[in-house]
Amino acid sequence: MEDYKFLIETKEIVKGKPKQVRLGLKKLTVYFNGEKYFVFDSHCPHARADLTKAKYLKNEVQCHWHGYRFNLEDGKGKGNNFQLKLYKVKIEDGKIFVKEKKEEEQENLLFFPEVKFKGEKDDK
Ligand code: FES
Repeated sequence: MEDYKFLIETKEIVKGKPKQVRLGLKKLTVYFNGEKYFVFDSHCPHARADLTKAKYLKNEVQCHWHGYRFNLEDGKGKGNNFQLKLYKVKIEDGKIFVKEKKEEEQENLLFFPEVKFKGEKDDK
């Protein structure tokens, strides 16, 4: 459990209802889909909307501001190049502990969208 920090007790998390929890100065969202707990930065990587208010599917979150979708397993944007910042989660004695994932542990670390301008063509 080295480097893991206590976040919240599992009994405080309701299945299907995201909850925002503070970890120091950070705001994290905890989401339980009935099988697995996911913990990630509450701010959407696109324009920082609060993802606690987003729409949730089983392993996916869809931001309520511009509709961008992110896979909760790897944080990758679906149809976009943004990366949701995920935390590693460990459950012990009904308690949720988290550890920040290092950048090299997340693949798709592009924080700006690929913007195509009208009339622009692919080089391929
Ligand atoms: S702020 Fe989330 S999609 Fe734009």
